[in-house]
Amino acid sequence: MQNKAAFIDQPRQTLSVREAPYTPPTAHQIVIRNRAIAINHIDWKIQENPEFAPLRYPGILGHESAGEVVAVGSAVTRFAVGDRVLAEGTAMATSSPAEGSFQLLTVVPEHVVCRIPDSLSFARATVLPLGVSTAAMGLYAAGTLELAYPSCPKAESRGETIIVWGGSSSVGSNVIQLAVQAGYEVVATASPHNFDYVRGLGATAVFDYHEESVVEDLVAAVRGKTVIGGFDAVGYDAAGVSASTPLSQVLSRTEDQSVGKQHTRCKLVSVHPAPRALPEGIEFKMAWAVVPPELGLAIYRDFLPGALEQGTYRAVPEPVVVGHGLEAIQGGVDVLKRGVSARKIVVLVD
Ligand SMILES: NC(=O)c1ccc[n+]([C@@H]2O[C@H](COP(=O)([O-])OP(=O)(O)OC[C@H]3O[C@@H](n4cnc5c(N)ncnc54)[C@H](OP(=O)(O)O)[C@@H]3O)[C@@H](O)[C@H]2O)c1
Repeated sequence: MQNKAAFIDQPRQTLSVREAPYTPPTAHQIVIRNRAIAINHIDWKIQENPEFAPLRYPGILGHESAGEVVAVGSAVTRFAVGDRVLAEGTAMATSSPAEGSFQLLTVVPEHVVCRIPDSLSFARATVLPLGVSTAAMGLYAAGTLELAYPSCPKAESRGETIIVWGGSSSVGSNVIQLAVQAGYEVVATASPHNFDYVRGLGATAVFDYHEESVVEDLVAAVRGKTVIGGFDAVGYDAAGVSASTPLSQVLSRTEDQSVGKQHTRCKLVSVHPAPRALPEGIEFKMAWAVVPPELGLAIYRDFLPGALEQGTYRAVPEPVVVGHGLEAIQGGVDVLKRGVSARKIVVLVD
């Protein structure tokens, strides 16, 4: 099969499109002919700073796509050639160019692949995988918030609350949806123009993180609730300020009504490493979007296909198509670097 990729040949170089080798799948892998590719922050971060994550040069970036299955490994029974799917690109974890999404044919492990309904366009489907995987790792992996898995239809209320900082981000949008489907209450932060969007994902209350009073606002909003942890879906901003800092201040003042006293430990998960100082009693864990098979299958096989089919899970943030063809990817990377608000940058590949 003929392949083409947007290569990064050296650290800090712009992407260069040319022929690429075709890599057949191993037993538990499938090969996808990408039709839509979304851009993520890690793409421009690795391009700018090779120390951010290991990469073999020439390398292929890209961490999510949607398209059709064109080959399946010998042990794969869940997919067949022609299936419409979305998939996380796992090059960040394996450092293997074949697994980068910025190419026509990407090899992916089957546990991060999800069949998509005919009604879901590739442009919409590609916004999900990296956000879903990062959210899942922060919600379910050992030592993180360790929530119950989501179900479809939505589980009964558990009477437990989590706080999500950055509810309108790609990761935050998925954290909210996964937690709500499992019966947790979510209280979140966002800019006011995204309040309706974040409430529409299932958050019961949203607060403006620009307000000086945001910590007090959140503390008041969750008073009397059983808060079991927080998810910082933003991490560090360009000035090096971590959203985990205000979130940890809120968490350190929440009460667990189930034990009727101040938390001795409260869990905080972030997409980035911990800030230097955290209040006492806060247990911190960083979430990496490297999903082990058991967790991947629980989400990408057992939950997401049905939830998308039934329309209970939304493919968000809204895609913004910035171009067609692999040649448009570098422009998309540059657009994302300037920042987005409840949007995902997408390139279509015919
Ligand atoms: N560890 C991993 O494996 C992993 C995986 C994926 C992403 N990440 C990292 O996670 C971060 C988020 O990625 P993403 O793709 O979800 O980002 P994104 O969708 O581009 O995030 C944009 C959103 O962030 C919100 N935001 C920005 N600053 C904020 C703040 N101080 N407080 C609250 N919200 C804020 C904005 O909200 P408003 O527009 O409402 O203001 C905007 O909607 C990035 O730094 C990325 O590198 C890590």
